Order: sequence, then structure tokens, then C-alpha cells
Amino acid sequence: AERTLVLVKPDGVARGLTGEVLRRVEAKGYRIVALEMRTADDALLAEHYAEHQGKPFFAPLVEFMRSGPVVAAVVEGGRVIEGFRSLAGTTEPTGAAPGTIRGDLGRDWGTSVVQNLVHGSDSPESAAREIGLWFPAL
Ligand code: GTP
Ligand code: MG
Repeated sequence: AERTLVLVKPDGVARGLTGEVLRRVEAKGYRIVALEMRTADDALLAEHYAEHQGKPFFAPLVEFMRSGPVVAAVVEGGRVIEGFRSLAGTTEPTGAAPGTIRGDLGRDWGTSVVQNLVHGSDSPESAAREIGLWFPAL
């Protein structure tokens, strides 16, 4: 089956929303096949966010992402890449639909970088690359 990389970002972990995010993933019928809490370093984040290098929000994004532990998961299921993006909602929580993780729980005000609780791979190519980065043993 298809696999995606899900991250509960530092804001989600700090706010105690790890269980809520994983609950929604499991309730949808997806399967968690790997799970780890860790604090990411610059090298990992530079690779993870390679597509954003050079953009104005890159440095604050990396600083935010290494500000505390994240929970990384490999999630499996039919069309899970698209499905998790749908569960997550749009990038900015203010405009994200109610019913989504970001729409129900995200706060994008009062911070210099968009703190939107979760990450999900955006394509099969991204998923393979990101799972290799975060879970090299898989
Ligand atoms: P991810 O699942 O985290 O990859 O989010 P996404 O796919 O919805 O967004 P994208 O990959 O375009 O951007 C990655 C992350 O960078 C976002 O989740 C935000 O945290 C941050 N980000 C993206 N665009 C902006 C922006 O225009 N300004 C700021 N400050 N942060 C941004
Ligand atoms: Mg993205």
C-alpha cells in the first residue's frame, strides 16, 4: 500500500496534540507502521525542506522545526498521501476548513513562521525521499 511521512511539528507536540493527530490518522483507517519522537538537526531539516531553500521563510522555518521534539510517523493506506493532506487542511490554519487538523486546532497568528501542527508528504516522490531521510532503516 501507499506510504507517507507525517510529522507532528514542535507546536503540536508542545501543545499535547500528538495523540489527537494520531487518533485522526487511525480513525480514518490508516495504519502507523513506524513512529519516533526526536529533535531534528539542521542537516536533516535542510534536506527535508530542500525545496524551500532560498525562500525568505526558510531560516525561521528551520529554527521553528528544531525548537523542540517532533513526532515522526510512517503512515500506510490507500491513497494516504492525498488523504493525509486532506485531513491536515491547507497550509495556513486561519483559512483551513473546520474538520481538518489545522482548521480545528492550528493557530497561525502571533508567530513569525506558519506554525501549522503537522507535515505530510505532498507526492509519491516526496514520500519516498522523506521516509528515507527520517527512517533510513525502513
Ligand atoms: P508541510 O506539510 O509542512 O510541507 O506544509 P505544506 O506542504 O502545507 O506547506 P509547504 O511545503 O509549502 O511549506 C512548508 C512549511 O513552511 C509550511 O507548513 C509552513 O510551516 C512554512 N511556510 C510555507 N509557506 C510559508 C510562507 O509563505 N510564510 C511562512 N512564514 N511560512 C511558510
Ligand atoms: Mg510541503
